[in-house]
Amino acid sequence: MSIRTLIRGGLVVTASDELHADVLIEDGRVAALAAHGSAAAEAWTADRTIDATGKYVIPGGVDAHTHMELPFGGTSASDTFETGTRAAAWGGTTTIVDFAVQSVGHSLREGLDTWYAKADGNCAVDYAFHMILSDVNERTLKEMDHLVGEGVTSFKLFMAYPGVFYSDDGQILRAMQRGAANGGLIMMHAENGIAIDVLVEQALARGETDPRHHGEVRKVLLEAEATHRAIQLARVAGAPLYVVHVSAEEAVAELAAARDKGLPVFGETCPQYLFLSTDNLEEPDFQGAKYVCSTPLRPKEHQAALWRGLRTNDLQVVSTDHCPFCFRGQKELGRGDFSKIPNGLPGVENRMDLLHQAVLDGHISRRRWIEIACASPARMFGLYPQKGTIAPGSDADIVLYDPHAEQVISAETHHMNVDYSAYEGRRITGRVDTVLSRGELVIDQREFTGRAGHGAFVPRSTCQYL
Ligand code: URP
Ligand code: ZN
Ligand code: ZN
Repeated sequence: MSIRTLIRGGLVVTASDELHADVLIEDGRVAALAAHGSAAAEAWTADRTIDATGKYVIPGGVDAHTHMELPFGGTSASDTFETGTRAAAWGGTTTIVDFAVQSVGHSLREGLDTWYAKADGNCAVDYAFHMILSDVNERTLKEMDHLVGEGVTSFKLFMAYPGVFYSDDGQILRAMQRGAANGGLIMMHAENGIAIDVLVEQALARGETDPRHHGEVRKVLLEAEATHRAIQLARVAGAPLYVVHVSAEEAVAELAAARDKGLPVFGETCPQYLFLSTDNLEEPDFQGAKYVCSTPLRPKEHQAALWRGLRTNDLQVVSTDHCPFCFRGQKELGRGDFSKIPNGLPGVENRMDLLHQAVLDGHISRRRWIEIACASPARMFGLYPQKGTIAPGSDADIVLYDPHAEQVISAETHHMNVDYSAYEGRRITGRVDTVLSRGELVIDQREFTGRAGHGAFVPRSTCQYL
């Protein structure tokens, strides 16, 4: 039975507009918007009316970079699809795009089917997949075409992690050529992993084993160099390129230079690079391990360049790269050897709030908040306007956001399955109040009303910026 829901009295904020409008939802989709108090809106009847007075009515967040249950560094990311998508909902994110992994020697099909099975029946919100290519060869290049056909239209390659996910330049070029032909978007982890591994070995030989050395060996120049090389390879292949988790000012400069030439090059950064720094990696008593991720956190000075890149659209998307490992028993695997600390940070629940705080702090505008967290990731990965906006026909993935509520981020209160928060103690103004996913209440005035299995796989079209 179809339930008609009316969201009344809020300020609808999308990437393009801010309107005092009521929103009518039917069959899980947005049916209409009308100015609040207008004759049209007053005439609407509904089975359920949600009062949004004093709240923003925003599209559900689209987090285009998560790693639920990722086996990595001798352990596995601690959020399952069930716990991770529930936490996403709590944080106002209603779509995740997770990375299915091809293992070396295995097909893309096997990797993707494993990820379908992990997610199926377990998710509170909708999900899609990118595919990590760990073994580029004739067979897997052909498989890319099939994946694009079934809605898995983006492929992550790694210039880092030799022996695990690493691809050499020849493999990267071939995958880019294939992407240029089949419409798949290549996503790049841009760090010179071969050089980094030499520096890791040398640091450990000098007895430099603490977490802060993770940041020191993964040098800014090696991110910038890899970003430059990835861009040139994409130019040679005639392919677009999306660089993930950009952290360094010099890497932003490479993207900006390419975009100034009119090249189809895109960049993503993450809250950890905008709000955290090498100061965190230096926290004593091995606490710095909580902040080990790659690319690494950078000195604070880089943050201004990232915010500027987001304002000038040299960076288009903020994703979380949510890849949580508990401090106890997981991050601790690297005591005495920073290279054994599993790489990754939790954050899927915090992104919308941190970026709202950035609005209040004057880094970005309110509409840009929605653009970089909802609309642009949806467009980048072929989900728009089904996701990422509030418009007639769009999925009714809608968040009622209280812009005045105060909160303190803490592992005590978060819903991610991880024993620490990277943002512990941080005060935020703004909080998610209510979340709908395809018209169903998932969070109702700060109470979880969703269920595992509501979230469905969403096949994607190709990048909509091309
Ligand atoms: O440290 C990170 N980023 N872990 C997840 C894997 C990746 O490279 O995105
Ligand atoms: Zn990566
Ligand atoms: Zn990642």
